[in-house]
Amino acid sequence: MSNLAYEQARSPAPSFDLTGKRVVVVGGKRAIGLGVAQAAHDMGAAVTVASRRRISAEERPDLASFDQIVLDIRDEAAVKAAFDSIGFFDHLVVTAGPELGSWGSFMDPDMRGVRSYLEGKFLGTWACARHAAPYLQAGGSMIFLTGGAGARAKFGLAAVTPTFAAVESLSRSLALELAPIRVNTIRPGFVDTDFWDVLPAETVEEIRAKVRANFPAKRIGTPADVGHAAVFLMTNSYVTGTVLEVSGGELLVDWIF
Ligand SMILES: NC(=O)c1ccc[n+]([C@@H]2O[C@H](COP(=O)([O-])OP(=O)(O)OC[C@H]3O[C@@H](n4cnc5c(N)ncnc54)[C@H](OP(=O)(O)O)[C@@H]3O)[C@@H](O)[C@H]2O)c1
Repeated sequence: MSNLAYEQARSPAPSFDLTGKRVVVVGGKRAIGLGVAQAAHDMGAAVTVASRRRISAEERPDLASFDQIVLDIRDEAAVKAAFDSIGFFDHLVVTAGPELGSWGSFMDPDMRGVRSYLEGKFLGTWACARHAAPYLQAGGSMIFLTGGAGARAKFGLAAVTPTFAAVESLSRSLALELAPIRVNTIRPGFVDTDFWDVLPAETVEEIRAKVRANFPAKRIGTPADVGHAAVFLMTNSYVTGTVLEVSGGELLVDWIF
């Protein structure tokens, strides 16, 4: 077989089809993770969603299509036990992260904020990747989640910017260490989820208005936008070690939330 024919055999025609694949979304019971879980399910995957709570079918009928796992990504033993119980699968997505504002400020009297943020984001993502890796099938991938702050420092986000940068950097390292398993990061812009609910309702409304006015895409992002990108990363076997921005062009403009 010629070199080109060999590569073409490994480069299937473009398809978002995930029929027969198993996808695990850590953080997938709501918000961005749920958008990813729904997109993968719509493309034919069997999806397992994980978070700290088991949610009943009565409370959330929209979760009925998914298997549920309970785990706290800050608890390495629980993460290992969860992946041991899930067994072999194809694509890992980790969207879970600490609550808005939980990271504290640089001048706080102690380092509790940054320690818990690193634990809930960077080390939690690491734990999921580490304990999922033995179970990922050939052709599989991992996707991590950061945000625009990973690329541009903002006042008050001293813990977030380096943590997101570390997660993005980890995805490049693992793209090498775990190859041919592919590892990528999605960097969303503003996505309208309950992540923002800790802010007063009028503040969130102001943020939405600023996003619609200033972001080049002239609209707010949705979990489905991130889900679409995640399915692309799962199904394109030549994309690894990248950060895919799904942000409406957030980083091209100045805006303060
Ligand atoms: N929304 C945005 O505009 C935006 C933009 C840029 C970046 N981000 C980043 O993306 C992350 C996800 O955003 P989102 O809007 O989907 O947030 P979200 O509404 O806060 O959802 C977070 C999800 O992660 C789970 N989770 C949180 N801590 C966990 C833990 N320790 N172990 C296991 N599961 C945990 C939560 O479920 P349980 O509570 O049941 O555990 C929930 O399903 C955020 O942390 C943020 O860093 C968000």
